[in-house]
Amino acid sequence: MNHLLTIGDLEPGQIQNILDLSDKLHQSPEPVMQGKNIAFVFEKPSLRTRVGTEAAINHLGGRVIEINPDLIFSSSMAVPFTSRESLKDAMMNVSQWCDAIFARVYNHATLKKLAGYGTIPVVNALCDQHHPMQALADLYTLQQKYGKEQSLVISYVGDANNVAFSLIEIGLKFGHTLKFAGPPEYSWNEGQLEYFSFLAAEHGGTFLQTADPVEAVFESDVIYTDTFISMGEEHLFDEKIKHFQPYQVNGALFSKAKSSTGFMHCLPAHRGVEVTDEVIDHPNSWVYSQAQNRMIVSKGVFATILAGETKEIETKGA
Ligand code: CP
Ligand code: NVA
Repeated sequence: MNHLLTIGDLEPGQIQNILDLSDKLHQSPEPVMQGKNIAFVFEKPSLRTRVGTEAAINHLGGRVIEINPDLIFSSSMAVPFTSRESLKDAMMNVSQWCDAIFARVYNHATLKKLAGYGTIPVVNALCDQHHPMQALADLYTLQQKYGKEQSLVISYVGDANNVAFSLIEIGLKFGHTLKFAGPPEYSWNEGQLEYFSFLAAEHGGTFLQTADPVEAVFESDVIYTDTFISMGEEHLFDEKIKHFQPYQVNGALFSKAKSSTGFMHCLPAHRGVEVTDEVIDHPNSWVYSQAQNRMIVSKGVFATILAGETKEIETKGA
């Protein structure tokens, strides 16, 4: 494993290995990252991803070096003196000092550029389309609750966003049933739906899409939601929010599922918008376990990435 940009980059066996290694390193920490420097560059705010991952790296003996995003992402060759230096030069420099880069960006294309210009592994800390670190922690959480063998019905109610995409990918790769409910205006495009059908057929899972949240949560083992307005979409608030009111995960919707059904949310949550207090504070809510597992799973990800690390700085053209 070189980069981790999407869940689609990983085979189910690789994912399970990461989760198993995460568990092992959490139970018996080892200084497998001693002497390793991980660059953090965040274009958007973060609590869980930034702090949880830094704590994980510290537990394994590594260090984090925070880079001001302006030093990397204002890079442009197009207009001289409007930016500090090119992205290529910035990444080739960071590659001399750091062992991996953990980046939260607005556009997925930016991660591909980081991977293309640098010579160190790039790990996606969230972009507009994917949140693989969250999905790994979510699968780990589901395995804690239900074991590794059980086939689950995972219902996602809300926006067709980065968190939902990575959750659907990982769930289908493990043969689960994914039921998605959201307003048709903000749902998956044809290409995404074809991809989900392909994953379901390949791994023996099922993907179902409906506009009816009650249908989505019927016989569900877990109901998942996320914000209706993601970072970078704040200008769409008025336009989007009116479509999402029927998709709030509240006591009435939660009661349509089983008494054992869990609730998950990647956080940050907007209490009273996509989820009500009675659900997020319910005994079956696993949101704080998810947050703890973000840290645990970061250990397996970075230990795996660094174990496969190869430095090619001399040969890749300075
Ligand atoms: N779930 C998650 O990624 O949270 P942060 O945005 O706080 O990192
Ligand atoms: N979909 C949200 C997730 C935050 C962790 C966003 O991108 O803002």
